[in-house]
Amino acid sequence: MELREKEQQMKRDLDPALSTAADDRANAPIVRFRNVTKRYGALTVLDGLDLDIAPHEKVAIIGPSGSGKSTLLRVLMTLDPLSDGIIEVDGEPLTHEMQGGKLVPASARHVRQVRSKIGMVFQSFNLFPHMTALANTIEAPMRVLGLSKKEATERGRELLSMVGLAEKCNHYPSQLSGGQQQRVAIARALAMRPKIMLFDEVTSALDPELCGEVLNVIRKLGDEHSLTMLMVTHQMGFAKEFADRVCFFSQGKIIEQAPPQQFFSAPQHERTRQFLRAVTEAL
Ligand SMILES: Nc1ncnc2c1ncn2[C@@H]1O[C@H](COP(=O)(O)OP(=O)(O)O)[C@@H](O)[C@H]1O
Ligand SMILES: [Mg+2]
Repeated sequence: MELREKEQQMKRDLDPALSTAADDRANAPIVRFRNVTKRYGALTVLDGLDLDIAPHEKVAIIGPSGSGKSTLLRVLMTLDPLSDGIIEVDGEPLTHEMQGGKLVPASARHVRQVRSKIGMVFQSFNLFPHMTALANTIEAPMRVLGLSKKEATERGRELLSMVGLAEKCNHYPSQLSGGQQQRVAIARALAMRPKIMLFDEVTSALDPELCGEVLNVIRKLGDEHSLTMLMVTHQMGFAKEFADRVCFFSQGKIIEQAPPQQFFSAPQHERTRQFLRAVTEAL
């Protein structure tokens, strides 16, 4: 233990009140959905959802098609506005801000600032086709974070090398395989230094042999970085091995959630059992 850490530990040991306050802050959810509701016309897609995510937690989101999984990630990424409820990120309301003691819809600037803590990777890689892998990775850090080209390039090369693509910096998306493109998309999201990463079925568009290389990168992120991750996936094996918690969605609600061992070995609800039977039979 570093000397400073030791000192702080001693201080906490001596002062239980201090220790509680510090622990509370460390354990406070980094993402908090409170009564989050999303409707498209008459269709309720997220139905009064409450969900707390702890810092560094890895949450797998599973459930039938159309149950609201992508919508959950999209509203967190502020790609879709909420119909009701509130989302907090790092203790700050995402789409609202305090003004004169009241919560009011947030300014675009506030939303940008809170959202900069979040990165997202989609099923379809969404790379800019006219830019090389490196250019894709440095664009937002330069434009949004104001990094110089030199700084952004350094960061971009480091990340592309982390995802195993050091040799492909100057390739265009059309010159890369699906798995490679998806790894560029992950490097591009990481270049913004998010605290929270959202993955929406990131291997669904890939041939089975290319899934592995993308999942390995995600595993590495989990092992080596203190990111909080929310991952929508149909790969039960990966969810079991990787996640700290599995949330099962049905019709815009979480009907069951548990650590993976418990979730997969002893699902409590009939709807969960039915879903798990169906996905196992499909294999
Ligand atoms: N922009 C939209 N307009 C209307 N309906 C939508 C829109 N986006 C999603 N939906 C509907 O919301 C429901 C949930 O969608 P989604 O969150 O994508 O489900 P999942 O990711 O679990 O398959 C679906 O019935 C879908 O058709
Ligand atoms: Mg989806």
